[in-house]
Amino acid sequence: MIDLSHLRLGQLGFGVRVGLTVFLAMIAAGYGAGAWYIVHHVGQKDGEPGLSWLDLEATYHGVDKPAEMLTVLERPEHRAYLTSEAEHEALVKWLRGGDQGERIGGGDAVEADYVADGPQYEAAEEAGLLPYDILKARCLSCHAPGAAQGGGVGNQIPLHDFPSVKRFAYRKKLEPLSPEILAVSSHTHFLSIPTFALLVFGLLLLTGWPRFLRHGLFALAFLGLAADFAGMWLSRVDRAYLALIPGGGAVFGGCLGLAMLAMLLEMWISPYLRGARQEPPA
Ligand code: HEC
Repeated sequence: MIDLSHLRLGQLGFGVRVGLTVFLAMIAAGYGAGAWYIVHHVGQKDGEPGLSWLDLEATYHGVDKPAEMLTVLERPEHRAYLTSEAEHEALVKWLRGGDQGERIGGGDAVEADYVADGPQYEAAEEAGLLPYDILKARCLSCHAPGAAQGGGVGNQIPLHDFPSVKRFAYRKKLEPLSPEILAVSSHTHFLSIPTFALLVFGLLLLTGWPRFLRHGLFALAFLGLAADFAGMWLSRVDRAYLALIPGGGAVFGGCLGLAMLAMLLEMWISPYLRGARQEPPA
């Protein structure tokens, strides 16, 4: 039987250590590319730049939230900024118009009613009930860039033109990944990631680091990966499982990074720390 228990990566020949180092670099690059893709692709899911919890929820569970402005107008202190029931009704009707999607003849109801261009808007204009006019009269004292009131909310949540208003005026309805796409993604990832992880954590065993570290990282990495993978499917059923995805992913990524670092130190530093290098095994 071949006894590998005394083999150390640090004893391997120079060429093998170069090859293994490049192998680790490629895995790190591949992992980095995956992370970049997640931030730039999954991060787009909610229409706002950057990766957020909403992106994760939209991707793996799906999201259906009413327009934020609609929600805020139900809160008593915000509702009180409107001076009549008619104004409240007009804004609610305007924002609900977005639920019907595109208007017959093209265009989107929320934008069209905000711009309010055409004879059909004359009555509302006279009554002072156009969405634009209500926002201007009741909201912009706080929600305009540089507004004196509202403690600076006007700079974070401006509502003075349509590009600013539209961030809050639409229902957010985002379908999760289809089962087909998730199945294809699972097929590639569930087969490839554990395979290279097995190589990395297997090679970690051939280092001089304490046993609890080598074995602990091995076990923890695979548990993290399993949690991440399970979360992707379980989140479809219940959003409570969403935390498994970044949580498990972070555990796996952390273990992988530490394992790689431990191997690099073993290959390139430890031979010199141990003094004269032993002859590589035949
Ligand atoms: C007196 C100042 C003031 C006025 C007037 C005001 N707001 Fe606000 N608004 C705030 C502040 C402060 C916040 C942030 C804290 C919060 O969410 O309550 C906010 C938050 C919001 C948000 C974001 C809510 C969220 O939870 O993300 C929306 C949308 C909004 N306001 C819409 C309106 C509309 C529409 C009007 C007019 C009917 C209005 N506001 C009038 C001060 C104001």
